Amino acid sequence: MSKESLANLLKEERRFTPPAELAAAANVTAEAYDRAAEDRLGFWAAQARRLSWDTEPTETLDWSNPPFAKWFKDGKLNVAYNCVDRHVEAGHGDRVAIHFEGEPGDTRTLTYAELQREVAKAAHALTELGVRAGDRVAVYMPMIPETLITMLACARLGAPHSLVFGGFSADALATRIQDADARVVVTADGGYRRGKPSALKPAVDEALTKPGTENVRKVLVVRRTGQDIGWTEGRDIWWHDLVDRQPEQHDYEVFDAEHPLFILYTSGTTGKPKGILHTSGGYLTQVSYTHHAVFDLKPETDVYWCTADVGWVTGHSYIVYGPMSNGATQVLYEGTPDTPHQGRWWEIVEKYKVTLLYTAPTAIRTCMKWGDEIPARYDLSSLRLLGSVGEPINPEAWVWYREHIGGGRTPVVDTWWQTETGSIMISPLPGVTEAKPGSAQVPLPGISATVVDDEGREVPNGSGGYLVLTEPWPSMLRTVWGDDQRYKDTYWSRFEGRYFAGDGAKKDEDGDIWLLGRVDDVMLVSGHNISTTEVESALVSHPKVAEAAVVGATDPQTTQAICAFVILRGDAAEDASLADELRAHVAKTLGPIAKPKRILAVAELPKTRSGKIMRRLLRDVAENRTLGDVTTLTDSSVMDLIQQKLAAAPASSDD
Ligand code: WT7
Repeated sequence: MSKESLANLLKEERRFTPPAELAAAANVTAEAYDRAAEDRLGFWAAQARRLSWDTEPTETLDWSNPPFAKWFKDGKLNVAYNCVDRHVEAGHGDRVAIHFEGEPGDTRTLTYAELQREVAKAAHALTELGVRAGDRVAVYMPMIPETLITMLACARLGAPHSLVFGGFSADALATRIQDADARVVVTADGGYRRGKPSALKPAVDEALTKPGTENVRKVLVVRRTGQDIGWTEGRDIWWHDLVDRQPEQHDYEVFDAEHPLFILYTSGTTGKPKGILHTSGGYLTQVSYTHHAVFDLKPETDVYWCTADVGWVTGHSYIVYGPMSNGATQVLYEGTPDTPHQGRWWEIVEKYKVTLLYTAPTAIRTCMKWGDEIPARYDLSSLRLLGSVGEPINPEAWVWYREHIGGGRTPVVDTWWQTETGSIMISPLPGVTEAKPGSAQVPLPGISATVVDDEGREVPNGSGGYLVLTEPWPSMLRTVWGDDQRYKDTYWSRFEGRYFAGDGAKKDEDGDIWLLGRVDDVMLVSGHNISTTEVESALVSHPKVAEAAVVGATDPQTTQAICAFVILRGDAAEDASLADELRAHVAKTLGPIAKPKRILAVAELPKTRSGKIMRRLLRDVAENRTLGDVTTLTDSSVMDLIQQKLAAAPASSDD
């Protein structure tokens, strides 16, 4: 489909009704909204029965000491049993749990019965290393089955894991080991990225030289790449030496619903990372329910694939705990989407006949930039549902995703949530909701969210403000690790009694919610609040633009001036009239007040490894400041190129 006909699709403000076949067989129907509205806690109590409890909970929510919630507090369960063993006991031991695809093309298939044995062995191994219930285990791993096995083994032992994304530096790893006071680190020699081995173990060695990491007694190392690594006798131990010789059966212990399951540090585009604490029963209830409801998972027939790294919350909730508690079959891919070629993802979809795909807008826009002809080479007809998460998806990318990946058939679910919320909170239901490209639409059954103004008053339809969650939910964070005060201050003090998400949002005339990016990303231009997301979306709706990042830079006349950084589509030329053309386009789409003062075509944008644009750095260059912390960038040379380019470009002079 040409860019022009896509634009026409968008202009009609098309609505996409659920495919009749999917709607007729959907796991969750419209009735769920009514049931949850009538009795929210009764609704969640019913969802908790999706799990196997060793002691059934009798109390749903204890909210006597807000904002510290206890869900299902007298219930007892084992999370790993729920994700693995019970499926084998139910006769599904031969079902594939994981189709692993390594970046070099090696593969490994694990059924639920095999996974059960691997998790049992890993649990014995961690026990041998001294791990006891309550001890924190840091995990610094590539995207390989052992990572999931380690997480499940930790859950089985009641030892909270703390995953640190493999792209983070030794410093970032050390900070997280210190903060959580981890006792054991599980890592690998390296993993494969962009066609070559990428080391992990040296960063662990370096991190463990830093003060505050002395309590790490043992480092368990998976051999993945076979590269040379340093070795500390007495501390380091190979996975294959320790795990392989363990018994294949393990008796699980039972834990309280509020037993800590994991700590995960927020990706932190600003400030010191916060250790977000999630616990067991409520978390597992909501990830299980939302995976069932939003992805309409049919465990017997679906092949699910979430492309996120397991080091992010998306990987925790929608690779490990949600899908596995539901007995899903899934694909796990180690590498990057363009190794060895730009069709790799679509080749994987074709190979495993993936039916449900969950990815991020930044990946979708990258694929748009590479060109429609790449996915067109593969048979993607197995897909029946597509999901998006991580940032607002502009309508242009939404429609492209549905047309070029979903063959114009599949629903697209735009799912809003955060590390802190643990599970999806706002999303269409694929068999119910008439979808609107660009909007996450409505809170899921059992979830209460709204948009308020500065004083905390709910805004009417057609207005914007701040997104808040008005009732506690089962998979909510319980605190910031070691810092209850920061938990209260950050999330519960901006608006009395309500959770402040930090996102700007608006409600349209139908009351559907549109996310507008982080509140820090709202610009003030001549007395108007303008969201970076809206200007970016307007820019990307121009045929020449593939990606855009917008920031507000301090300006003597207008408080802030809008600066736009754009990546052009493959065939678009950067000529003298480009900036004017784009400015005119934004003026027409959003209004003259939203016209960027400066527009700069760049080759790449600074992104965190989870794909979020680091606007803070772009603001630094736009305001001619020394760059702030660049350690979480995927590629720090990107910023040098942007700075050089900006220095050479004149600012626009007309308004
Ligand atoms: C922030 C949370 C949730 C897993 C991955 C990110 C943004 C996330 C959407 C969406 C608009 C979204 C928000 C949110 N975000 N999903 N569907 N539409 N914005 O987890 O790193 O904790 O980031 O990501 O700004 O607050 P995270």
